[in-house]
Amino acid sequence: MNLLVTGGAGFIGSNFVHYIYGQRPDWHISVYDLLTHAGSKKNIEGLDASRVDFVQADICDEASIDKAVSECDAIVHFAAESHNDNSLASPWPFVNTNLVGTFRLLESVRKHGKRLHHISTDEVYGDLGLDDPAKFTPDTPYNPSSPYSSTKAGSDLLVRAWVRSFDVQATISNCSNNYGPYQHVEKLIPRQVTEIIEGRKPKLYGNGQNVRDWIHAEDHSSGVLAILEKGKIGETYLIGANCERNNKEVVEMILELMGKAKNDYELVNDRPGHDLRYAIDASKLMNELGWRPKYTDFRQGLANTIDWYKQNEDWWKPQKKVTEAKYKELGR
Ligand code: NAD
Ligand code: TYD
Repeated sequence: MNLLVTGGAGFIGSNFVHYIYGQRPDWHISVYDLLTHAGSKKNIEGLDASRVDFVQADICDEASIDKAVSECDAIVHFAAESHNDNSLASPWPFVNTNLVGTFRLLESVRKHGKRLHHISTDEVYGDLGLDDPAKFTPDTPYNPSSPYSSTKAGSDLLVRAWVRSFDVQATISNCSNNYGPYQHVEKLIPRQVTEIIEGRKPKLYGNGQNVRDWIHAEDHSSGVLAILEKGKIGETYLIGANCERNNKEVVEMILELMGKAKNDYELVNDRPGHDLRYAIDASKLMNELGWRPKYTDFRQGLANTIDWYKQNEDWWKPQKKVTEAKYKELGR
């Protein structure tokens, strides 16, 4: 197997590369990544060069993506602009990478007849009420709120159309909020951990009541591998580990694990259009493909992640100042 991983130098993509490297020693992995602010070659350092190679290129570049697709057996497509706050400040890169980039990739996949797995998010379904008994399922209607989630929704619809119209051999997964090592400091958990390390208070948007359904990036990776190997072409699978927490609970747990008072946080301006709650029903993936999450103890997973950020200051320090300067401008 020669596997092409787009966005393989980003947070989840690099966790996936490490996971496949360990789980499938006979596979070759080609990482294809533009190295935007969110990608770094450091995320895939130390892997045997005979098993993993790297191309720095844009998925919107027709010739480059076509060459990479022609040389592989299958593609897992993580490359995307991925952060809601950035999409609200500057939507164009989201339209370009998430929509145009996925279109370019699909056209090459169609031309060369390759297997594709498309990575997406539960945010395409919009949000749920706090007391809503329902969770997202593969049949939930799309109802995205932000430039990020709407461009991811559009990319999913492109994949579905290419499957139906052109018999492209593709599957899709929509996963909940990931945490773990190598996540950029612009996201909730790494931002608060690094704020505390630098001696400042965590920042909660609005009233802190918004709920996210957390999954460790390694569990996301094992779900993707199960779908790549055993998933049914044309199907959508939801990946989630049944771990709903509101943001206040997450921040309080981080403070406690880092030896601070539980209420030592600030409330800051809310995000415009802020989705209230996400929750995943992963029973299709569990029942049909036998997948199970490994990190079922969120507190332990969070403690390990905090340790990783404590031990890898050299990794995140270069991102921190510019990220906080952006947030300062937004009053968040
Ligand atoms: P990330 O921002 O950390 O990584 C994205 C990677 O894509 C980076 O390495 C970046 O350099 C690369 N990239 C961006 N634009 C590119 C382009 N035009 N060409 C080539 N490479 C490009 O994001 P992430 O959190 O790792 O998310 C990866 C995927 O998983 C995305 O598709 C995202 O929508 C999806 N997802 C994320 C989460 C989450 O909680 N972070 C949850 C569910 C799904
Ligand atoms: P984020 O990590 O940006 O992921 P997403 O928007 O994809 O869910 O945010 C997770 C939640 O945390 C979301 O409800 C927004 C909130 N949040 C804060 O309260 N403070 C912060 O500093 C950040 C970055 C996010």
